[in-house]
Amino acid sequence: MAYYSIQNIPLTDLAKDFGTPLYVYDADKIREKILLLQQSFLGINLTIKFAAKSNTNLSILRLMRANGVEMDVVSPQELEMGLIAGYEGGQITFTPSGVHFSEIEYAVSKGAIVNLDNLSVLEKFGQTYGSSQPCLIRIKPHVFGGGNEKIMTAHPESKFGISIHQKAEILALVDKYNINVIGLHQHTGSDIKDGKTFEQAASALFDFAYDFKDLQIIDLGGGFKVPYSPEDPGVNMKEVGQIMSDAFRAFCQKYGRELRLWVEPGKFLVSESGTFLAETNVVKHDPVKTFVGINSGLNHLIRPMMYGSYHYIFNASNQDSSKQAEYRVTGYICETDTFSFDYAGKQNERLLNEVKEGDIIALANAGAYGFTMASHYNSRFLPAEVLVDGGVARVIRKRETMEDLLRNQE
Ligand code: LLP
Repeated sequence: MAYYSIQNIPLTDLAKDFGTPLYVYDADKIREKILLLQQSFLGINLTIKFAAKSNTNLSILRLMRANGVEMDVVSPQELEMGLIAGYEGGQITFTPSGVHFSEIEYAVSKGAIVNLDNLSVLEKFGQTYGSSQPCLIRIKPHVFGGGNEKIMTAHPESKFGISIHQKAEILALVDKYNINVIGLHQHTGSDIKDGKTFEQAASALFDFAYDFKDLQIIDLGGGFKVPYSPEDPGVNMKEVGQIMSDAFRAFCQKYGRELRLWVEPGKFLVSESGTFLAETNVVKHDPVKTFVGINSGLNHLIRPMMYGSYHYIFNASNQDSSKQAEYRVTGYICETDTFSFDYAGKQNERLLNEVKEGDIIALANAGAYGFTMASHYNSRFLPAEVLVDGGVARVIRKRETMEDLLRNQE
């Protein structure tokens, strides 16, 4: 899995030219994943809605837009980003969770399609707009799926969506206010590999959908697992795409109308495009283990600490594998921040080509939920971001300065 360059530019050159810590994205990889997704859903009308929470850099959004990918957002700010990136409101779906109704009104005012996930919000939507505005309804299908508990969103106890058992209440509100429900939505969770889980969730939504007469869209969410580790190849997209397309075609036939299928992947489109680069500040030979301390921490890439997630780690400065050692890769934050976790979510040591102070350590699969989940903890600056496209690397977000930290403070 270790690769030492992006479009022939060595990672070490990128680190030298742009400094560290640094997020680097490979535009070709993103295009490749878009194409693979398109080629996996055959014989149906497919729209891809990029789950922008995974990466909201404007340059990434523009790249998505240029490749025919629309957008799914969760906040007014993400919606604004989309508009700034050149999207029209109608290409953006607003799929929030637990927001104030004023945010729904704001999204409607920008022409976005809203996705409602609560009965009280559905009622307010009916009272406010009657049949004048379209909407989707997010259903919770009571399906278990997702890499860990924190990223499972469709099981009975999840806060997301309206329970599939509340169909009567939904239909009563739709009828009462003549609400213009153009689509139904469900998102099972993140890191799902198994075609059966997607099929189960889709078929629950299809069964639910027959009572809604004027549907144009079924949105089956995202969650396609990416290969975080060499042992885990991730989702077989062609296979899952075919399962979902077949099920969708059968549904359309029974429903009596050609509908449009939306999917909203985040990780699948951007995770593998991203590599996170940091420099080795210290190699600490402790009697018990050897630590590699890098110039970053949970403030920049929180996935390992938040979910016990596995990220592939390698020494970008040393391609000689004849001398390797076990290292625990840690951060510089005043917490036990560790980047190396095993598949079971426990801190571990990684076998790396011998690390010296000053070496560049690379973490793969950092394109999704990397920068967007970064914080200023310990008053550290956010990393810079670089996009490599057409063999050229350019900064798409500058490194922060002290001014950024002080802005807005008294
Ligand atoms: N659609 C909805 C409604 C979602 O809530 C999400 C993710 C997606 C699509 C995209 O899921 P994806 O294809 O990226 O798996 N921060 C966590 C993942 C949280 C996902 C939140 N919702 C992580 O880094 O693993």
